[in-house]
Amino acid sequence: MKKYLPIYEKGDHKWYCLYKDPKRASHLVGTKEYVIQSGSSVLLTDPGGTEVFPEIVSSIAEIVDFAAIDRVFCTHQDPDVFSSIALWLQIKPDLKVYLPKIWLGFMLHFAGAANTFELIPDEGMSIPLGNLNLQAIPAHYVHSSGNFSLYDPEAKILFSGDIGAAIIPKDGDDPFVKNFDAHLPLIEGFHKRWLGSNEHKNQWCERVLELDLDFLAPQHGLIYQGKMIKTFLEWLHDLKVGQIVY
Ligand SMILES: [Fe+2]
Ligand SMILES: [Fe+2]
Repeated sequence: MKKYLPIYEKGDHKWYCLYKDPKRASHLVGTKEYVIQSGSSVLLTDPGGTEVFPEIVSSIAEIVDFAAIDRVFCTHQDPDVFSSIALWLQIKPDLKVYLPKIWLGFMLHFAGAANTFELIPDEGMSIPLGNLNLQAIPAHYVHSSGNFSLYDPEAKILFSGDIGAAIIPKDGDDPFVKNFDAHLPLIEGFHKRWLGSNEHKNQWCERVLELDLDFLAPQHGLIYQGKMIKTFLEWLHDLKVGQIVY
């Protein structure tokens, strides 16, 4: 079972972060998943790879009523985001899977039917969850060609997928960034190599700087909180990406 941490709670509106997987093999990149609850609806972000599926199911069952999970949000198509979907659909065949529109034809090669997916158009969309309207915010080419972040304006949390991601050792998987300078070596190479477009990266940074945010929560690494968010966004804006650094 993965460890989990409540990062926001107001009435029946809650965010949990699943963050530590003691069984993860050291050659696998660690992932964070987020469980968002509003009333009787629950959404899971970037549900993860097949290898972590049992750990995630057992953690979620501790947090919320398992029957209430009715939505999954996928920022993009990578295996660490998406490959557990076939397993999820076996146990929850009515699950609504939100996916960037351009990836549908590729995703159907290994999971679901066309009516499994709620396709997010390039310009983004609102995603209803209980009393909330979450927003899919375009993040194309940062890093995937069809890519979204998920914004919760009530909780002031942006789930950023691979943007802000850090490759951290298994025993360093603490929830929050505490010292940006110490964090920098864990994010710099990843962002230079895996983000391909400076133009689109800068547009995303400018878009996100306008949001009211308390947390910026990536799929890997550590969560940026408070003033650390602006520090990260300004660093990312200045960074030259699309570099072969490995
Ligand atoms: Fe990715
Ligand atoms: Fe990822």
